[in-house]
Amino acid sequence: MEEGKVVLYPGMGVGHLVPMVELAKLFIRNGISVTIVLIEQPDKTSSDLLASISSSNPSISFHVLPPVPIPSNFSFVDIMLTASRLQHPNLVSFLGTLSYVRAIVLDFFCTDVIAVVNQLQIPAYIFFPSPAVGVSTALYYPTFYSSTTASLKDMRDDDPLNFPGSLTIVASDMPDTMRDRESPTNQNILYHFKRLQTADGMLVNTFEWFESKAVNAIKDGLCVPDGSTPPIYCIGPIVSNGSCKEGQERHECLTWLDKQPKQSVVFLCFGSMGTFSLEQLKEMAIGLEKSSHRFLWVVRDPINMFEEPNLDLLLPKGFLDRTKDRGMVVKSWAPQVEVLLHDAIGGFVTHCGWNSILEAITAGVPMVCWPLYAEQRMIRKYLAEELKVAGSIEGHDKELVQANAVETKIRWLMESNDAKELRNRIAVVKDKARDAVMEGGPSWQAFWNLTSSLKENDTNENVVVL
Ligand SMILES: *[C@@H]1O[C@H](CO)[C@@H](O)[C@H](O)[C@H]1NC(C)=O
Ligand SMILES: *[C@@H]1O[C@H](CO)[C@@H](O)[C@H](O)[C@H]1NC(C)=O
Ligand SMILES: *[C@@H]1O[C@H](CO)[C@@H](O)[C@H](O)[C@H]1NC(C)=O
Repeated sequence: MEEGKVVLYPGMGVGHLVPMVELAKLFIRNGISVTIVLIEQPDKTSSDLLASISSSNPSISFHVLPPVPIPSNFSFVDIMLTASRLQHPNLVSFLGTLSYVRAIVLDFFCTDVIAVVNQLQIPAYIFFPSPAVGVSTALYYPTFYSSTTASLKDMRDDDPLNFPGSLTIVASDMPDTMRDRESPTNQNILYHFKRLQTADGMLVNTFEWFESKAVNAIKDGLCVPDGSTPPIYCIGPIVSNGSCKEGQERHECLTWLDKQPKQSVVFLCFGSMGTFSLEQLKEMAIGLEKSSHRFLWVVRDPINMFEEPNLDLLLPKGFLDRTKDRGMVVKSWAPQVEVLLHDAIGGFVTHCGWNSILEAITAGVPMVCWPLYAEQRMIRKYLAEELKVAGSIEGHDKELVQANAVETKIRWLMESNDAKELRNRIAVVKDKARDAVMEGGPSWQAFWNLTSSLKENDTNENVVVL
């Protein structure tokens, strides 16, 4: 009998592809074959990344849909939100070439694919590379939207929004793209969030113990008061166990870390899109220098994130020289997973991308949040104020974070008793995360439940028997 495969469809954003590749590996480890269907990427950096991902994952098959013309006035977010829609005919004809598709797993910005594939009798699941509190917020957002006529940007922060699953989130914690009620981008997001409830299930990269309140709010149906909530499977944390390929040399920052004392280095890294203004980079440098702690800092070019930054022009005069005995600045990219797992790392200043948070938790590293865009402010609020497992940098919600705020928070992270307690709490979270994905653990069990429900129809007549 043909075994049947699962098709993963990450849509347009490369940031959403990387966690889906980890999900693909999980399916493969459980004996289910996978094809990842991609949309051809317009820029060279993304297409290079795709090429490198597919060459380093030979067990995953990739299929690239041909490009379709995208209106030239679209912003990046609008492209992400609509690109998959323009691809429906290409996707359907590709699915037609496969003899048996068990299920398709979609990015949450591709929800209009659900109706398309359901017509082909293929169940559709949504994968969230985000916390459960992001899922509860997304599910509830259409209800919230129709409960008011105001835009988030006009709401005051005195009262939490009272979304099921979170006590603390206020209007200004929500993504900028959703702040203006009538903006095309917000309307597009609303369109997708309304369709989440039509999915056959939701896979979330989190673990129940960590986010029990948000998970329970979803399970209890509180987030979709007027409809039904698809089953939720908390299958995480799924994180990459490292990006070093066999035979490749270790990154020089790891060799540098080898020479630093245990837990002595603060790591500052802000994700693949995290850029700062020149002014902000200078404040960071001054703060780091004044903190007198060891540091490993990933700096991206403020103007063009794909260009290699010129550190001599970007950083204060003499900074690199004065800090060379205790600091290392890396241009553009560092192997984050290996860095976080290194003994020398004592703290992490992060933009709060969910992948980064899970990587830090898995490594047991205490964090300071410095959110930049998308749902990162919400994640900061949730981690720092609700779950109390992270600190926050003062002024992250202002134009500029001052050098003395950087200095103070790094000292706090590396020296204070508060941070010692934080480290102990993160150690507990780390153990729970490890237990969750171990055989028999709750995330393992959820994935097992998912695959058995995917296999439940294998004996049906619609299966092509070879
Ligand atoms: C990552 O996991 C894979 C599969 O479990 C294993 O083969 C590989 O050695 C691991 N890599 C590292 C760097 O731990
Ligand atoms: C798996 O399915 C069983 C039986 O339906 C259920 O009792 C259990 O709660 C599920 N576990 C998870 C983690 O979803
Ligand atoms: C199994 O088949 C039933 C009946 O056709 C359908 O409702 C259900 O969605 C299918 N489940 C999966 C996981 O394919």
